[in-house]
This record gives sequence, C-alpha cells and structure tokens, in this order.
Amino acid sequence: MPANTWWKNGIVYQIYPRSFQDSNGDGVGDLRGIASRLDYLVDLGINAVWISPIFPSPMADFGYDVSDYCGIHPLFGSMEDFDHLIAEVHRRGLKLILDFVPNHSSDRHPWFKESRSSRNNPKRDWYIWRDPKPDGSPPNNWVSNFGGSAWQFDEATGQYYYHAFLKEQPDLNWRNPELRQAMHNVLRFWLDKGVDGFRVDVIWHLIKDAQFRDNPRNPAWHPDRPEIESLLQVHSNDQEEVHDVIAGMRRILDEYKDRVLIGEIYLPTDRLVTYYGKDLSGAHLPFNFQLIQAAWNARAISHLVNEYEAALPEGAWPNWVLGNHDQPRIAARIGAEQARVAAMLLLTLRGTPTMYYGDEIGLPRVEIPPNRVQDPWEKNEPGLGFGRDPARTPMQWDGSTFAGFSTVQPWLPLGPDHEHDNVEALSRDSGSILSLYRQLIRLRRSTPELAIGDYHPIPTESPAFAFLRTYGEGRRVVVLNVSGEPTAAKLVSVPDGLRVKLSTYLDRVGEAVGVNVALRPNEGLVLG
Ligand code: GLC
Repeated sequence: MPANTWWKNGIVYQIYPRSFQDSNGDGVGDLRGIASRLDYLVDLGINAVWISPIFPSPMADFGYDVSDYCGIHPLFGSMEDFDHLIAEVHRRGLKLILDFVPNHSSDRHPWFKESRSSRNNPKRDWYIWRDPKPDGSPPNNWVSNFGGSAWQFDEATGQYYYHAFLKEQPDLNWRNPELRQAMHNVLRFWLDKGVDGFRVDVIWHLIKDAQFRDNPRNPAWHPDRPEIESLLQVHSNDQEEVHDVIAGMRRILDEYKDRVLIGEIYLPTDRLVTYYGKDLSGAHLPFNFQLIQAAWNARAISHLVNEYEAALPEGAWPNWVLGNHDQPRIAARIGAEQARVAAMLLLTLRGTPTMYYGDEIGLPRVEIPPNRVQDPWEKNEPGLGFGRDPARTPMQWDGSTFAGFSTVQPWLPLGPDHEHDNVEALSRDSGSILSLYRQLIRLRRSTPELAIGDYHPIPTESPAFAFLRTYGEGRRVVVLNVSGEPTAAKLVSVPDGLRVKLSTYLDRVGEAVGVNVALRPNEGLVLG
C-alpha cells in the first residue's frame, strides 16, 4: 500500500447527521443539508467525511438500530438525496465513509420479525436465542451496555434473545453463514454506489463466547459507574473468531479499489492492535480512542503515544481520535485552552486523524434540560453523567436565532454562546480555534513530515510533551505545553536552527528557538 493512500495521509471528519445542517425546516439535520455545507469542509481542508447512520430506523438509538440496511431514513432524505450527496462529495475530491452497524439490527427489521416468529423459522439462527435457566431467569449474567440484563424474554417462543445494547437492538449471529452472506451483500450494495469505506460499529462485539459463559464480576466497580462495568467483558466480546469475520468484510472491500475499513473498538492497546488482523487482513484503521480516555498530562500522553507506536504490528498505519458522538466534548473535558493544544496534537501525530464536527469551533458540553433528553442511555441510567446528548448538539454556523442550523427549534439545544461561537464569527477572528484548525490542517497537508513521516519521541521534562517527525531529510519538532503554567522545555538531540512554523496562539511564526523552548501556558509549537 503506497504511503500516499488517501486514508493514510488524509483527515477524516465525522458528521452526526441529525446535527450538521437541516435543509427542510424540521429541526433535524439531513443529507441535503450536509451537501450544502461541503464547501465549508473543503475550505477547512479535511479529506474524508464519515457520517453516522442514515438508514431507516425506529431511532431507539438514533440510527444505530437499523431496520433496512440498504435504504435511507426519510428524516434524512431519499436515495436520490444520497446519490446527490456522494456525487457532490466526489466532485470536490472528498471521500465518503458510511457507518455500518452489523452487530445488531432494529427489532423492527424484517429479519428479526421473521426470526422471532417461530423457533423453526429459517432466520431464527440469524439472531441469538437461548432457553431460560430452569428457574426462568436469563441464560447468563451478561449486562446491556445501556444498563439492565442483556437478555429479553420473548413470550411467543419461550426463549430469550441477546442484546448488547437496547432491547430494541437484538444482536445478530455472525456465526451463521447466511447472515454473513446477507451482510456482505449490504457492503457490496453501498460499495457499488461508490462509497469509499465504512466505519464499523462495535466491531469487537461481533462474536460472543460459543458457550455463553457468565462474565466475571469486576471487583473495582463502583455504583457511580455504568452497570456494564460491573462485569469484566471476558466472554461477551473480543473473541478470537471475530478476526475471521472482519477478514471476511475486508475481502469484500478489497474487491474494490482504494476503500477503507475502520473499526470502532474500545480495548486496551495490546488488544486493540490485534484488530489489524493476521498479516494486516483486518481493519485498516482500528479506531484508537486513547486520547479520549487519557489523563490529560504530558507524562500520560507521552506514555500512551509511545506505547501505541511500539505496539503497532509491522506495516500497520496508526490513527488518532479526539472525540465522537458517544464521548464528552474535548473542550469540556480539558478546557478551551487545552483544546487548542489537543488540536495540535491530533494533527501532528503520526497516523490518520479523525475530527468530530464542532470541535473545530470549540463546541462545549451543552447542558440538556431534563425535558429535552433524547439519549436512551441517559434515560436508562439517568443522572450518572453518561448521557451523550451534550456532545451531539447542532453545528453552529452563524449568529442567527437557530445558528444557521435550522429555521426552527433544533432537536437538541444550541450552545449558550452560539451568537459568538459559530463558524461565521470565528472565521472573521484570525486568532480563533477555527483559524487554528484551518492552519494546522493546511500545515499537515503541505508537510510530508507531519502527514506521513516517521515518529520519534523526544524526552523532555514535564509538563511538556515533544516529538520529532521525519521524512527523508526533513524534520519537524512538535512541543506541547500540556498545562496552564508557563514552562521551558529542554529538548535533547534536536536539529539546529529551528524556527516556529505554527503556535497554538497563531503568532511567533518565524521566531528562532534553541534547545530550551519557552512555552506560554497552554501553548503548542510546531518547529522546523
Ligand atoms: C456504538 C455507537 C453508539 C451506539 C452503539 C450501539 O458505540 O457509536 O452510538 O449507541 O454502538 O450501536
């Protein structure tokens, strides 16, 4: 695979379609809306767009409960709107990545309706059905990711079905060859339409323990944590056989030219990297969420980056993610000042960066009044603070009443400062986080050292994190002050004659620096 493949040297941008742009005045974003904002994305400089699910769905989990894998939900538009979108994306030289949700369907999917209709139905085995224990209780102790038992009793046929998420999201049985075949056809359907790849939802969940053994208790669990963490997920996910399933999907993509397979995986580094597959026959990019979960200090970040780099199999291409529709907004987690440092980190590390819409304008955590809660997780386990609505609020385009997102009250509230924190206002401000993102992206794209070069750690003293990127003779040094205090980073073994290429404060360009680099609070520098 040449180093200049788009998914290696490009930048992925995630759109949560309900919240990007409403074009028909119903308060929910849609495909025509996305198409109307593509020039913004071109101007921002990203290369590929991943859109969360747009398929027909009862919306129990906002599209992650699919009732037709080959259709478009009318809320988002029509198949014609989709064809229009993909044509417009490609016309601009961008790529389009869809969300593939193969672990579970909606309980309204015709497959599940058939499956639950009788024990003898040919599609019975497309889902996971088990007898109750003799006392009538669920087959094992597995817990749903959204709380409560992961088993739902079905009166009509006297068995339980398994659902790793909502009971409206029954898990599909990937051990069944017919199901696999049907899902491969879904991939082909979209690939034939020209889709450039898939982000595969909860890919590490696809295969469960063949014997459905109980998961062990997690001794470290505390009741203020989600119930799913009360058990160690030893048997319910990350099973060896999953790698065959993923290689099977990968073979379908490989029948086409230059497509990408991205896997959603929340696992420790040593397990995560196994998802590249045997001889790299798995996901091209097993999503690396470590920056989302990291303690935000130089020591922790430097440790996780170096550990990840060291763990990558030969030939595997790294990737980094700062936020997504399931996680707290980065600006809320580490603060608006450090969010600028995080942007520089994401866009200078070795590996494909995935940005989450709105992070480039510093969207905060938006408080959701109780009567406007949408997320089923928040409804199931209220008050723990794990609800995902605060990170799914509408994109803020301008200072108008509904921020240019819609002409009516949006499905989730806008941020409190949307009159100021919007694309239009921040574009006019040459020191804004949006201006920083634009410059970082431009710099990455025009600098092979940053886009595809090698990575070498540079030891420094806390609270700075530094590294070197090299490509041929070229050198770039990145120094990040991961704290709110001024500091001087003493860099050992770095090239002479370094000058500032970019500061997170968007000044100092051209300034000469020596081995002792003075950093202001929350300042990151690219030197070269
Ligand atoms: C993934 C999605 C999340 C969804 C879950 C179940 O983690 O990102 O939004 O709720 O899978 O499909």
